[in-house]
Amino acid sequence: MKLFSRSRTAAKAEPPPPVTHGGRRPARLEVEAFATSRVVLDRLVPVVGVHPYPLSELMLMAAAFFDLRPAQVIDVGTHHGKSARIWYELGRLLDVPPPVHTIDLCDASHPEFPGKDHGRHCRGLDGVTLHTGDGTEVAAQLLDAAPGVPTLLFLDGDHAQDTVTRELALCDRMPGGSVLLHDTLTQPGSGYNEGPWEAITTFLATRPDIEAHHSHLGLPGMTLLRLPATPA
Ligand SMILES: C[S@@+](CC[C@H](N)C(=O)[O-])C[C@H]1O[C@@H](n2cnc3c(N)ncnc32)[C@H](O)[C@@H]1O
Repeated sequence: MKLFSRSRTAAKAEPPPPVTHGGRRPARLEVEAFATSRVVLDRLVPVVGVHPYPLSELMLMAAAFFDLRPAQVIDVGTHHGKSARIWYELGRLLDVPPPVHTIDLCDASHPEFPGKDHGRHCRGLDGVTLHTGDGTEVAAQLLDAAPGVPTLLFLDGDHAQDTVTRELALCDRMPGGSVLLHDTLTQPGSGYNEGPWEAITTFLATRPDIEAHHSHLGLPGMTLLRLPATPA
């Protein structure tokens, strides 16, 4: 398959062509990065800007989405709803947009309680459902209700190591899916959300079958885990 041409690099945002090898998902992450860049610039940046997800992370989010072409997205940590809005905007580029489930604890005692701005970027959008509750528990229910469905799980809730470790255990319920984690800065001692990186490092040491991609450009940091089709 010809991956890019002059027309592919033209100004209109369109979904990057799927990259497949013998009809299967490539063994390593490969996307057509020109078309992915257009999507980021034309469809995402005008709507969500570059905060809290800078360009490198928007690229990884779009790459993860078009790599998997998920049948559902589970977004943990709705807050104001920017990540859920990103999944919605990417889905609009596909013939069949995946449903987006976004979950927030909505606990007024939590330091990141969204208050009245809860979900303001994604509320009322077609196919976007706001759930209230613990991300791991609600995500487990959603995964059990749709077994075998290719799922993209986005983790941006509580950044404590034990919470992220609990969330990563969801990988066992979603073979062939992808997990994207936010705030995975890798510098121990930085004092900035060290939990996600600690949790990933420990988890990956037990799962060499999982392919990881780290944005590694510094703050805030994002990591993609591509899960094998059959659980370890
Ligand atoms: C960093 S913000 C998420 C930003 C959001 N993804 C966005 O793009 O606007 C973290 C959110 O996670 C929520 N949260 C914290 N712990 C949670 C948990 N255990 N389950 C679900 N949500 C949680 C907080 O209430 C807060 O709204």
